[in-house]
Amino acid sequence: MIESDSRIELEVGSGKGLFMIGAAAAAPDTLFIGLELAAKFAALAQKRLEEANVTNGRFFCCDAIEVMCRDIPAERLAAVHVYFPDPWWKARHKKRRVLNERMLVAIERALTPGGTLHFWTDVVDYYESTLELIAEVTKLQGPMFVEEPSSEHDMDYRTHFERRTRLNGLPVYRCKYIKPAELHG
Ligand SMILES: C[S@@+](CC[C@H](N)C(=O)[O-])C[C@H]1O[C@@H](n2cnc3c(N)ncnc32)[C@H](O)[C@@H]1O
Repeated sequence: MIESDSRIELEVGSGKGLFMIGAAAAAPDTLFIGLELAAKFAALAQKRLEEANVTNGRFFCCDAIEVMCRDIPAERLAAVHVYFPDPWWKARHKKRRVLNERMLVAIERALTPGGTLHFWTDVVDYYESTLELIAEVTKLQGPMFVEEPSSEHDMDYRTHFERRTRLNGLPVYRCKYIKPAELHG
C-alpha cells in the first residue's frame, strides 16, 4: 500500500511507459510517477499500466521541467530516470533539451541524500555535454557507468527507445549519479 511518506521514483519523458510498468510491478511499495509532454503517450502508458493491474504508478501529461522546478518538494525523490530524451539536433534548438541547467539543479534538489539520477541516451553529444553540465552545476557523484543489460526477451529492454536503438545495432550510453549525504541539511 502506498503511504504519503512512500518511496517515490520519477521518470522524465516516460513515452509509452515500458520502463515504469516493469519497475512499478517489481517494486510495489514504491510510487512511480511518469511525466510526459505528449498527451497521447501519457494516456497510452496509463492504459497499459492499468491493464497490467499495476496500481503504484501514475502517468501525467505535463512539462517535466516545470513540474520538477515548481511542484516537487526538496529531498522527496529516491530516483529520477531520464531515458533517451529528445536530442534536438540543431545547434539553435539545443536549449530545448530537457536536461538543461535549470532541470539538473531541480533534480539535485529533489533527490533524497543517496538518491540516484539515471541517464541513458543514444546521442553521444547529448551524453558528453550533459555529463559536463552535471559536473559544472551540481555536486552529484558520478558518472557511474552502467553495463549493457542482457536482452534475451523482448521485454528485457529498459525502454522502447532502448529496444529500437539496440535492435538497430547502435550504441547506448548509460550512466548513474548519486546525491551525496553531505548535501543534506
Ligand atoms: C525520445 S522519447 C523517449 C521516450 C522513452 N523515455 C523511451 O526511452 O522510450 C522522449 C520523450 O520525452 C518527451 N518529452 C520531451 N520533452 C518533455 C518535457 N519537457 N516534459 C515531459 N516529457 C517530455 C517526449 O514527448 C517523448 O515522449
